[in-house]
Amino acid sequence: MRFGSVNYEKKGKIAILTLDEPSKLNALSAGIRQGIREGVKAAEEDDQIRVIVFTGGSGRAFCAGADISGFDFSPEATQKFMDDVLGVLAIGETCAKPVISAVNGLALGGGFELAIGSDIVIASDKAKFGVPEVDLGLLPGFAIVRLKEIVGRQKAKELSLTGEPISAEEAVRLRIATRVVPHDDLMKETMALAEKIASKPRLTVALGKAAYNRGLGGEEMAYAKAAMPFLFATEDTREGVTAFLEKRKPVFKD
Ligand code: COA
Repeated sequence: MRFGSVNYEKKGKIAILTLDEPSKLNALSAGIRQGIREGVKAAEEDDQIRVIVFTGGSGRAFCAGADISGFDFSPEATQKFMDDVLGVLAIGETCAKPVISAVNGLALGGGFELAIGSDIVIASDKAKFGVPEVDLGLLPGFAIVRLKEIVGRQKAKELSLTGEPISAEEAVRLRIATRVVPHDDLMKETMALAEKIASKPRLTVALGKAAYNRGLGGEEMAYAKAAMPFLFATEDTREGVTAFLEKRKPVFKD
């Protein structure tokens, strides 16, 4: 089955959502966002499904973040975009069933955020994690809310303000991922973990997830939604985005 640009596969009690726009490194296009939303909804509504897995398939990316080619700079459009994209990035938190991200390759920007919004992250040894938005004159909207809880405030700032990517091993050390596995074993290891969770009592698992996630959302997310349209209105963000699309280095004027 396919929703938008996401393949949806049922394997027993597990739903596997594979992001599938490899030519754009699975960037969060409208099709990918639609696929994630509809795929998670289908998994939530299917009583047989106990665990959801996000992955990026056999290409070199899990997800390269927001679709830069689709940016519209009008204030209304950026506000709408932030509302939509933050909802998608938080879907691992807002859906009731456990979500595991199997990070097969590049997890950048929104891809990194989709992963940290999940309950558990398993990384291939080929994975790379990073929040490079600063090079576009932007910030990672979901990560500015969540990343400090995971890696600490200072490291969150270092990652967000330099945009430097990190290896899978470093991601485990920083508790962004729970473990790193050989690339070829990624889905085998992910499915073994998913099946283990799927074998536990449904309501206990659901309550466990809800209990750990208590208090997420709220004021900070509203702040992120409001802050990003402000950046989209700056000349430097226009320059950062235009430079990426023109495959050149940006010249920021501050
Ligand atoms: N949105 C839209 N398209 C993207 C994309 C994104 N976030 N990331 C990559 N792509 C596209 C590229 O434009 C390119 O398309 P083309 O073949 O039509 O030119 C294709 O995916 C392959 O990417 P390319 O940049 O040529 O590969 P690379 O190996 O030289 O670089 C990255 C890989 C990930 C370092 C680079 O693509 C990148 O910096 N992407 C943006 C990451 C980012 O800033 N994410 C946060 C967005 S807010």
